[in-house]
Amino acid sequence: MKGVTIEYAVSPRDTEDLDALLWRVLWEPLGLPRNVRQGFAIDGESLELVARENGRVIGGTVAVWTGDNEVEVRHLVVEPGAQNRGIGRRLVESVMDTTGPKGCRRVHTIARNTSIGFFKNIGFKTLPDTAPEHPAFKQYGIFFVLMDRIVEAPGGR
Ligand SMILES: CC(C)(COP(=O)(O)OP(=O)(O)OC[C@H]1O[C@@H](n2cnc3c(N)ncnc32)[C@H](O)[C@@H]1OP(=O)(O)O)[C@@H](O)C(=O)NCCC(=O)NCCS
Repeated sequence: MKGVTIEYAVSPRDTEDLDALLWRVLWEPLGLPRNVRQGFAIDGESLELVARENGRVIGGTVAVWTGDNEVEVRHLVVEPGAQNRGIGRRLVESVMDTTGPKGCRRVHTIARNTSIGFFKNIGFKTLPDTAPEHPAFKQYGIFFVLMDRIVEAPGGR
């Protein structure tokens, strides 16, 4: 994994590259429109991180504050050719490292069934609450599960 950095998406180029990667990996294969992400937007201050290798954005995440003490990993993506190299884990841990000192005590997500194993591997637990359903995903056998991970307070308090 040498050479992969996790950075804030600050430039318009980074946010555009992340937006394009999310669409290409998550939604284009399901035939969803290019602007579908707007329909999934939720209120709250957001944080965008990108994983970069050799100058290229190869992964990223969009996380949103959903309360004073909690953050949702709203979107998470790693380019298919770069998966299983620990980049997804680093992206989620970077969200926790960034938001923990600002008071985040719980990170939650609406996981695709295909990524439940990933989130379990990085310390998330499934929640009993029912996740939203979406016909555009259901027709491809994709359903959603609510998951979360408690974040230790600094100093273990
Ligand atoms: C899900 C995703 C973000 C994971 O990123 P990644 O960089 O491939 O994952 P990592 O290499 O950090 O994996 C961390 C651990 O989870 C495991 N893992 C990764 N993807 C997994 C999966 N789909 N199912 C089960 N385990 C998985 C890895 O083997 C690794 O295990 P280890 O700690 O024992 O070595 C990436 O595969 C992806 O973008 N998938 C397509 C889009 C998607 O599903 N996004 C999430 C929407 S909810």
